[in-house]
Amino acid sequence: MALSNIQLTPQLVQAVRDVVDIVDIAAEHTQLRKSGRRQMGRCPLHREKTPSFSVDPVQGLFYCFGCGRGGDAIKLHMLLSGDDFPAAIETLARRYGVPLPPPRQQRGGPREPDLEPALEAAAQFFVDALNRSPETQSYLERRQMPQELVERFGVGYAPDGWTNLLEALHPRIPLADLKAAGLVGISQKSGKYYDRFRQRLMFPIRAASGRLLGFGGRTLADDKAKYINSHETAAFRKGYVLYGLDMAKRAIRESSTALIVEGYFDVLGAVASGVDATVATMGTALTEDQARLLSRFASDVVVGYDGDEAGENAFRRVLPLLLSQGLTVRRARFGENEDPDSLRTSAGPDVVLRAVTEAEDAVLMELERLIPPAVHQDPRLQARAGKQVSELLQSVRDSILRYSYSQKASERLGVPVEILWRRVGGKPDLEAKSQATEGRTGPKLVRSLEEQALQLLLAGDEELPRVEELPSPDVFLIPACRNIYRAFCDLYRDGGGSRPAAKEVVASVPLDSAEVDQMARLLLEGSIADEAKGLGVALGQLSRRWLQQRLRALSGEISEAQRAGDDDRLRVLLEEKTALSRALHRGREE
Ligand code: CTP
Ligand code: MN
Repeated sequence: MALSNIQLTPQLVQAVRDVVDIVDIAAEHTQLRKSGRRQMGRCPLHREKTPSFSVDPVQGLFYCFGCGRGGDAIKLHMLLSGDDFPAAIETLARRYGVPLPPPRQQRGGPREPDLEPALEAAAQFFVDALNRSPETQSYLERRQMPQELVERFGVGYAPDGWTNLLEALHPRIPLADLKAAGLVGISQKSGKYYDRFRQRLMFPIRAASGRLLGFGGRTLADDKAKYINSHETAAFRKGYVLYGLDMAKRAIRESSTALIVEGYFDVLGAVASGVDATVATMGTALTEDQARLLSRFASDVVVGYDGDEAGENAFRRVLPLLLSQGLTVRRARFGENEDPDSLRTSAGPDVVLRAVTEAEDAVLMELERLIPPAVHQDPRLQARAGKQVSELLQSVRDSILRYSYSQKASERLGVPVEILWRRVGGKPDLEAKSQATEGRTGPKLVRSLEEQALQLLLAGDEELPRVEELPSPDVFLIPACRNIYRAFCDLYRDGGGSRPAAKEVVASVPLDSAEVDQMARLLLEGSIADEAKGLGVALGQLSRRWLQQRLRALSGEISEAQRAGDDDRLRVLLEEKTALSRALHRGREE
C-alpha cells in the first residue's frame, strides 16, 4: 500500500540508495558478527538456528544461504517492514534525512492533507475515552478480551454524542484534516461538523509498516450498522490492507505461516488463543493484492473463516487466489456457526489453537468435495469433476506440488494421472515464489558456466572487454542469467564504458525477481577458487556453446527447407551456417 503521495523521482530514489546503510537495517533485526569483509547473522526473514544470513557492506547487498533471498538495502527494508517500494523510499528518506519533494499537488485542486497526525490524535483520544468508560471496559470483560491485548492492539472507545472528538481535537487538528481522515462528517441540514464514530468500540487499522490508516468501529448500541470503517483514502484502501499484519508480521515470518480470519474480533481472539500470526480482511473478500501482500511474509496460510455457508463460499473464492501466489493453504475448522473468537469463549483457547495447528491441506479437502465417491459410475459427472479439479490445480505454482495433487485427484477420479496432468501440468513453476530452499547452508560448490561468467562480470576485478566485444545475451540459456547479463550490458553501455557496480545492476531489475536473489547469492558466495577461470574463457565457452547449439538447430532447418524446396530460405540458412561455422572456428583458434 502506498503510504503517501510523495512523488518518486529517479533523483530521490538514487539519493536514498546512496545513503542507506544495509548493515544498519539488518542490525535492527538480527545480531551480526564480522566475518572477513562480510557480516553474518541469523536470518531475520526466516527462523533458523545457525547463521546463514550474510551482508556485504561494501557491495551493499545481503543474501541468506538458508532461504535464498537476497538483494540490496531497500529490498531488505521492504521484506522486513512490509512497505511497498514508494513507502520504502519515503520511510528510508525520512530516516536518513534525504529531503523529500513536496507532496504531489492534485492538478488545480487543494493540497492532499497529511492525515496521519489527525488519525494518531484520534487514536489517542479513543484510548483515553476507553480508560474513562467502565461500561465499555465491562463489555470487553464480558467478551473475555484480555486487557493486555486491548492495549497492544490500541483498541479504544468513541463515546456517545456528536462532538466529543471534534471538541477534543479541534482546533489543534484542522477541520479539513479531520474530515479527510473520515473522522467527522458535515450535516446536510445544518452544515455543522459532527463525529462519525459514536458509541463504538474502535479498532485502529495499520499498514504492515505500522502506519495508522484508519479505524473500524463496532457498535456498542445495536446500531443497524454493526461496523463502520474509515473512508477509503489514498493511503487506506481496504483491498490492500490486512488488519493485524503490523503486529503479526514477525510471528508470521518466523513460522512462515499465517492465519487469515474475517474480522477484528477474530484477530484478537486468535491472538488470545496463542496464534500471534493472525491477520484479517475487513468485511470484504480477499483480493489478489492482499494475497500478494501476505505472500511477502508467509509461505503457508491457514484459512480460518466462519463455519457457516458464507464462510464456506468465501473459502472457495480465496483458495485459488492464495495458491496463485505460490502459497500452500490449509483450512481450520471451527465448527458449525463458530468463528475463532466465539469458539475461544465457548470452548476455550486451546480448542482454537488446536484447530489452527491441526488445520488440514485445503486443496485435498476441496478435492474430496469436488470428487464425490460415486463419481466413477457416471462418465458425465467424472468429466465435470475433472474440469473443476483441473481449474483448481492450475493455480498451484509449484509443479511438484501440482503433480502430487494431480495424482491424488486422478486416483479419486479413476482416470490415469496423465490425462489430468496434460491439462494442468503445462505451466512450469518458474514464477513461483522462491521460498526457503532448504538445506543449503554454505556456498554451492559447483557453479554453472553461466553463473561463473556472471560472477566474474559482477564482482571480478578483471578488465572487461569493450561493450561491442561482449557476446549477445542469447548465449545465456537460463532466462534469469540472461536477464542479469542483459541488465549488466545495458548499464555498461549507458555508462559510457565504465563498469557498473554490482549494486547498480541489482537496482536495475525488479526488486522481487529471482534475478535479484540470484545476483546476491553469486556476489555473497564470493569466487570459488577451484572453478576460477578467466572472464574471457567463461564468455568464450558460452559463445561457443551457443554457436554449436544454433548450428545443430540450423541443420534441422536446412533439411526442412530442402525438403520443402524453399530455395530463398535455404540460401539464408546456408549463409548463416557459414557465418556461424567461421565464428566457431575463430573462437577455437584464440
Ligand atoms: N464488517 C464490516 N461491516 C459490517 C460487518 C462486518 O466492515 N457491517 C467487517 C468487520 O471487519 C468485521 C468483519 O467484517 O470484523 C466480520 O464481521 P462479523 O463476523 O459480523 O463481526 P465480528 O468481527 O465477528 O464481530 P462480533 O464478534 O462483535 O460479532
Ligand atoms: Mn464474532
